[in-house]
Amino acid sequence: MIETVGGYSASVPDPEGYFGQFGGNHYPPEVKPALNELSNTYRTLRQSQDFQRALDRVRIGLQGRPTPVHHLENISRRTGGAQIYVKREDLNHTGAHKINHCVGFALLAKEMSKRKLIAETGAGQHGVALATAAAYFGLECEVHMGAVDIEKQSSNVGRMRLLGAHVIAATAGQSALKEASDSAFNAYVEQRDYALYAIGSAIGPHPFPMIVRDFQSVVGREARDQFLSLTGGCLPDHVVACVAGGSNAMGIYAGFLDDTAVALHAVEPLGKSNELGEHAATLSFGRPGILHGARSIVLQRDDGVPAKVTSIASGLVYPGVGPEIAMLHDSGRLAVSAISDEEVISAFFRVTKSEGIIPALESSHALAYAMRLAPGRPPSERILVNLSGRGDKDVDYVIANYGTG
Ligand SMILES: Cc1ncc(COP(=O)(O)O)c(C=O)c1O
Repeated sequence: MIETVGGYSASVPDPEGYFGQFGGNHYPPEVKPALNELSNTYRTLRQSQDFQRALDRVRIGLQGRPTPVHHLENISRRTGGAQIYVKREDLNHTGAHKINHCVGFALLAKEMSKRKLIAETGAGQHGVALATAAAYFGLECEVHMGAVDIEKQSSNVGRMRLLGAHVIAATAGQSALKEASDSAFNAYVEQRDYALYAIGSAIGPHPFPMIVRDFQSVVGREARDQFLSLTGGCLPDHVVACVAGGSNAMGIYAGFLDDTAVALHAVEPLGKSNELGEHAATLSFGRPGILHGARSIVLQRDDGVPAKVTSIASGLVYPGVGPEIAMLHDSGRLAVSAISDEEVISAFFRVTKSEGIIPALESSHALAYAMRLAPGRPPSERILVNLSGRGDKDVDYVIANYGTG
């Protein structure tokens, strides 16, 4: 059976795929049979010990799980105050948390006798992880990516192609993650008889947000146990994750949702400023709407069109959040903050130079926030950050634009 966590995760979504007022299935009716097939297969496999064993085998052998929890002692000492720890999802094979749900989707595709995986990618981390899972399981792979991101994240594009994936440029609108998602959704609608949509985050119509959360919950389950043994029985006081759609955030939150004393923090990209169009801080500035088949919180213009979004981190350039993140925000369970590009770069350099870890620009948002949160707090207070990915993909871009720090 697919291991999820505690009472909370079993309680949502409801059978229609709603997390409170958010979620559901707002997709063209002709796709409903394919989504129902996915939902039914997943519900059966979720109970299967064989499926969980197959997943565990791949997680250990191919991915290199479990990833450790690590104390950033140098940063903690220099920042002063609360101690900062990281869950090292950057140490996953392919360099980010995305592979946690990619291998799950690949296994699902095999069980459903689909021959192809389709997805969108922003920073290219999801695309590389999916191409890896496809290569391992002998599946075809089609990745949709904004033309701007193809340029910016060229090393990841090369890796996807090496792994045998077909990379398709999305050239509409901003040529970024939203347009890549539109393009991948359309491709899935056309190819749904023989392809499975291995969505890149905890977004989209039911059952995708639930499936992605369940596969990612391995992060939180491991982190909770590791934290308890590392600290002699203490839980973190704060758990911090960057949020685009919410896959890494839901993954780490899943371990702590039933621990009401643990504060959960969502960190969004404030980009260049708080002017609409210059950031991608959906929870801070968005309102309810429908995006990519689900009701959620959407960053939108007055006329309801999704807003243009900006962030230094390609993987965060998305004008929405997953429906479960929207519900947790609505219920007051999440503390939300936004971090500017400038603060992100400063955190990127600080962690690189003082800890010997080059973090992804996405993850650098969460690290920057932890460094803002720590000062002035007692050293007995502990902050756990999901270090969702490594920054190798960002090195060329950072050096070209900011030098070596
Ligand atoms: C390393 C990394 N962290 C975080 C994200 C944001 O996605 P999510 O909100 O689904 O975790 C991405 C997206 O590409 C990413 O590559």
